Amino acid sequence: MSRELPRVLFINGPNLNLLGRREPGVYGSESLADVERRVRRRAGDLGCEVEFRQSNIEGEVVTWLQEAGEGSGFDAVVMNPGAFTHYSYAIRDAISGAKVRLYEVHISNVHAREEFRHHSVVSAVAAGIVVGMGTIGYELALDAAVRTIRA
Ligand code: DQA
Repeated sequence: MSRELPRVLFINGPNLNLLGRREPGVYGSESLADVERRVRRRAGDLGCEVEFRQSNIEGEVVTWLQEAGEGSGFDAVVMNPGAFTHYSYAIRDAISGAKVRLYEVHISNVHAREEFRHHSVVSAVAAGIVVGMGTIGYELALDAAVRTIRA
């Protein structure tokens, strides 16, 4: 039986619980709760369901990705993997292994920052990437995910 509303899981990785307090010049002054409120409003406009999770623990993120793949109740995942982006092969393998439709989000323009942030081990297995758009990036990724699911 097909569900009526697309369902999208939002995962934020390490240190994103500090949003608003952490380097506001780079990441802005909104908290993660503020971002969640905005995304929920946008989800209401788009007619989709969203769920929000944040973890500082790599294994927890791996488990959530495994649970959100093909055949799960989720149609897509919007994820800001934080620093895991740059080195976590476990997260990359979970995305490809569980066939997760993944939209990768980075608040800052990682390409204009330190060298180690220029490479993502996740991007090659992502359906799309939003970089450097500030926290609006989460809403842009949701728009893209929902339009693709409905297409
Ligand atoms: C980030 C960029 C990463 O390099 C960093 O480790 C983060 C946040 C971003 O949203 O711009 O934690 O993913």
